[in-house]
Amino acid sequence: MKFTHSLIVLSALAVPLAWPTASGAQSTEARDLASNCFQCHGTDGRAEKGMPKIAGKDAKGMVEKMQEFRRSTEFKKVMTRHARGYTDAQLWLIGEYFESIPESGGD
Ligand code: HEC
Repeated sequence: MKFTHSLIVLSALAVPLAWPTASGAQSTEARDLASNCFQCHGTDGRAEKGMPKIAGKDAKGMVEKMQEFRRSTEFKKVMTRHARGYTDAQLWLIGEYFESIPESGGD
């Protein structure tokens, strides 16, 4: 009986603990990958004037745009070179991270 009870308690704990990495959006890996974009697109993707804002963008659209950059042969463009460093899975983590950030506000 005691054993069954512990199992229930453990599985109840496992759900909230597992959630952040399962969703990707809040994981450290997603934030680490997305931080590669902050230098140009602003912290959390909220760029100052002159640069495209990427915060709050739809993840699917972002992944497709990055895949387009990755296929491009216009090497003089920075995104053509930058996008080559990421797998599809990493692009999804990055896309979901930026989607979860409101377009403005914060700080
Ligand atoms: C060295 C600077 C630099 C870095 C680092 C950088 N970008 Fe960019 N990015 C640009 C510039 C400049 C443009 C606009 C010119 C272009 O589209 O090629 C751009 C355009 C984009 C666009 C298209 C936006 C639009 O509205 O058309 C997306 C999406 C994007 N970047 C995503 C990212 C992501 C995601 C990262 C990180 C993985 C990243 N960028 C890192 C400089 C950078």
